[in-house]
Amino acid sequence: MSSTITNPLRVGLRQERVITPQCLVIFGASGDLTQRKLVPALFELFKQRRLPSEFALLGCARRPWSDEEFRIRMKEALSKQIGNENKIWEQFSSFLFYEPVDLQQQNDLLKLSERLEKIDRSNATHSNRTFYLSVSPKFYGSACRAIHSAGLLNDPKRSRLVIEKPFGKDYGSAQSLNQVVQNCAQENQIFRIDHYLGKETVQNILVLRFANTIFEPIWNRNYISSVQITAAETVGVEDRAGYYEGSGALRDMVQNHLTQMLAITAMEPPGHFDPEAIRNEKAKVLQAARLADELNPWTCCVRGQYGPGGSKESPLIGYQQEDGVSSSSTTETYVALKLFIDNWRWQGVPFFIRTGKRLAKRLSEIVLTFREAPVHLFDAVGGSPTSNQLILRIQPDEGAEFRYDVKSPGSGMRSRPIEMEFSYDQSFGEPSDEGYVRLLADAMLGDPTLFTRSDEVEAAWRLYTPLLELIEDDPQKLPIYPYESRTWGPAAADSLLAKNNLLWRRP
Ligand code: BG6
Repeated sequence: MSSTITNPLRVGLRQERVITPQCLVIFGASGDLTQRKLVPALFELFKQRRLPSEFALLGCARRPWSDEEFRIRMKEALSKQIGNENKIWEQFSSFLFYEPVDLQQQNDLLKLSERLEKIDRSNATHSNRTFYLSVSPKFYGSACRAIHSAGLLNDPKRSRLVIEKPFGKDYGSAQSLNQVVQNCAQENQIFRIDHYLGKETVQNILVLRFANTIFEPIWNRNYISSVQITAAETVGVEDRAGYYEGSGALRDMVQNHLTQMLAITAMEPPGHFDPEAIRNEKAKVLQAARLADELNPWTCCVRGQYGPGGSKESPLIGYQQEDGVSSSSTTETYVALKLFIDNWRWQGVPFFIRTGKRLAKRLSEIVLTFREAPVHLFDAVGGSPTSNQLILRIQPDEGAEFRYDVKSPGSGMRSRPIEMEFSYDQSFGEPSDEGYVRLLADAMLGDPTLFTRSDEVEAAWRLYTPLLELIEDDPQKLPIYPYESRTWGPAAADSLLAKNNLLWRRP
């Protein structure tokens, strides 16, 4: 019996929108992201029969690979995912092509245009093109100019540009990059990607909030006393020291992924479910957000860096011992912050956000803590109430839980918190797609809802400007606290919450 019949929640699950014929061009095709995320996501879309039969993926980078070499390398990189699905891979790989391109070479741009026309003829891709910039961020501006100068962005209906994070490295550079990109393409052609927005559970926040009547009336300062947003990783910097040393957790995770989670959690209900209505509300709430104390930013931020740790059997080296990291590096691998949002809904509610590498557990979640019951009716008879909490689990174990007090069985009136659970896996019977699967499909569909608009990116950078300036001008004021690998980060981060008599959640 098929699982659709046994599980009514699965009915209609794969009725997806149809991607039009097109060629996806990935610049930086020899890089890590292409192998780890982009081609795996496309292979997944192919397996789900979501790619049109008039499709092509053209990988571009400076390496002088042939189509065949590109296919072999992608196959090697995806060997685990392919498993015994060799036949499907062979079908998929016939859509893969490669062109050596240096975007700064006029001649290469000509060759690229010719190749694209050839693919239009062989694969019937109708000059519909999505250009994906998976190159080093320092080349985003020049890459856009090059693609534009080759005339490849001229038709706003047929050409799109996807730009990876980080979009800029501070407010000023994000503004300049926006100007460059907007000189090359219209805003509706530009898709700034943040893969957290591709996560099913992040999108579910919109449904939870705006498709149910019970949450919205209490989703505000009258009922919610604090919000915690966590993105904890167990991995270290791995082989990305070159990039990470110049970035750190604030730029790598906070300005984008955590801030997007904050925006979706705190935004006002949009008037319609359309890209501009949603992005207007996200931009608006980010413009109302601020560090808890902008004049003394060091009082609302704690930075840390992982040291050695792990167990005797599997010891872990510290950040400063990682390949490519300076032994005196002051790059933060952990950040905790306190923010406020100055609007009617959230005035006075602290938003605590934290992220770190090599923490005790891999988990991303949003925790809304509700105000205590106004009267403690059961205190005298052994029940001391806890605050209700709604926990939105972004990953792993995607789902949500609601914690509330019940009476413990027995003759007294002792209460204890219990959890009401929802799990994506258990309810829908299959794990959610990776964020890139959803986002690549959306970019090829031309749906910008889950991509960040220019004003959102700028508002997100502006929010952290006082901290970035402090780190630049007076880093001593924002010391780096070492923490042992596989712990919950520096103890100093607890002090951010102490004023509110709160603790970080330690699941
Ligand atoms: C990336 C960061 O954007 O997100 C990485 O550059 C980080 O440093 C990754 O590891 C985390 O993504 P996820 O989906 O594994 O939580």
